Amino acid sequence: MPSKKRSSPRSKETEALVCSSSVAPQSDNVAIGKIAKCKIISSPTSSRKRLYGDEPMQKAKWNPKDPAQMKAVKEALHVATVPSNVACRDREQDVIFDFCKECLEKERAGSLYVCGCPGTGKTISLQKVKSKLLTWSKEVGHDIPDAVSINCTSLTDTSKIFSKILEKFERTCNSLSPLQQLQHIFSQRQSSPPKMTLIIVDEMDYLITRDQSVLHDLFMLTTLPFSRCILIGIANAIDLADRFLPKLASLNCKPPVITFHAYNKDQIYEIIQERLKGLVYDVFDSLSLEFCARKVAAASGDMRKVLSVCRRAVELLEAEIRDSCELQEFHTVTFDHMDKALSKAFKPKIVDTILYLPLHQQIILYALVNLFNRSKKNYTTIGELNKTYNETWKSIHRNARTAIGAAEFINMCQGLSDQGLLKLGQSKEEKLRRITLTVDGSDIAHAFKGNRFIQDCKHLAE
Ligand SMILES: Nc1ncnc2c1ncn2[C@@H]1O[C@H](COP(=O)(O)OP(=O)(O)OP(=O)(O)O)[C@@H](O)[C@H]1O
Ligand SMILES: [Mg+2]
Repeated sequence: MPSKKRSSPRSKETEALVCSSSVAPQSDNVAIGKIAKCKIISSPTSSRKRLYGDEPMQKAKWNPKDPAQMKAVKEALHVATVPSNVACRDREQDVIFDFCKECLEKERAGSLYVCGCPGTGKTISLQKVKSKLLTWSKEVGHDIPDAVSINCTSLTDTSKIFSKILEKFERTCNSLSPLQQLQHIFSQRQSSPPKMTLIIVDEMDYLITRDQSVLHDLFMLTTLPFSRCILIGIANAIDLADRFLPKLASLNCKPPVITFHAYNKDQIYEIIQERLKGLVYDVFDSLSLEFCARKVAAASGDMRKVLSVCRRAVELLEAEIRDSCELQEFHTVTFDHMDKALSKAFKPKIVDTILYLPLHQQIILYALVNLFNRSKKNYTTIGELNKTYNETWKSIHRNARTAIGAAEFINMCQGLSDQGLLKLGQSKEEKLRRITLTVDGSDIAHAFKGNRFIQDCKHLAE
């Protein structure tokens, strides 16, 4: 298929950002992550004022017992709710918009690659850019482009991407494959469509094949002599274009890369406030929101996680007041609700494993952590642990005889070792076998935090 070399059209702003990228100035990476002025918070109380100016105007109090209010809150926090404004992504949206606008004005094909971690607003930003582009075309009297958005996770087979795009051109020729038909359409002036077409390909990493041909053929569509496509690929991997599209680079057709960096705590706080702006009452106290923003920003910067934690915190408040007979109760989600919701969301997988262990194995683990804490050592022997275990057991069942015999105790330790929770060494004498933990002691402590039996046990042992 004929192809001509081209340089990707870039707006002045894209150019400036490409040039100013400190990561790789000579590459096409557009480093535009540092949008909000990042200020370091020193203390929760002083931070709000410094970060967000004076305290926000107090709204009316929220009545979580009012079903309409509760529904509105949950909707605002739902991942499927498209917010009217995508806060903190103005610059990314502007760069993408300007790129597309330039393509439309010059009636020139082009491609972009948008990447970033999960939940950083790529999909939602592209939706906004698409509708802004259609509105702009209408306003300036430009031909309104066709637009197609494809989420690759919905394709049954990678090559189906071409039939999806072809649908937009309403042409079929059974003797050619969908890809060949597209290549034919964009190779001759007479078959080239009158309108430009914006193609947004989301979750593009699903198109990676062993020979990389699908991705390559897809991007090559924008390089054909009479191509009228603006292709925007979206995926998580930052280096997908480099790794899977090396041939495009050699043809000087590598798409510019726009990176959506993980949200920082200030941005998360701002986004949540923006999503709740339409509500006439305060749902969260600001300390709880700050806590959530800090915690998620430190872990992933994923807005999907933020929304789910906030919804969970609201549900905790809802459950708390469910049984009261008052019809009106004015509350806000507090730090404690948020703390519980966050603990659940960030609970390590190992915590569930520990919580589903048989009772005696749980006590063995609990005794082991206590023993390590007391002795300041990170190993012990079966004999020593058995002693501590028996003390722990007796502290609950006063005057009781030992709970399990020595042989059974060793079996239980073996069971814990089989599950990867501890390591058992070898020795001629069973009671001298060395024991070390293979999981973090703090995860065990975390697992037992809300466990009533262990709490009782702790209480009695003190
Ligand atoms: N700036 C923002 N303002 C408001 N809501 C946002 C913002 N960024 C993300 N969200 C919300 O977070 C959720 C995830 O956003 P989105 O789907 O755009 O992320 P993504 O980067 O495409 O993630 P993935 O890589 O997993 O596909 C959505 O519910 C979206 O509404
Ligand atoms: Mg997405």
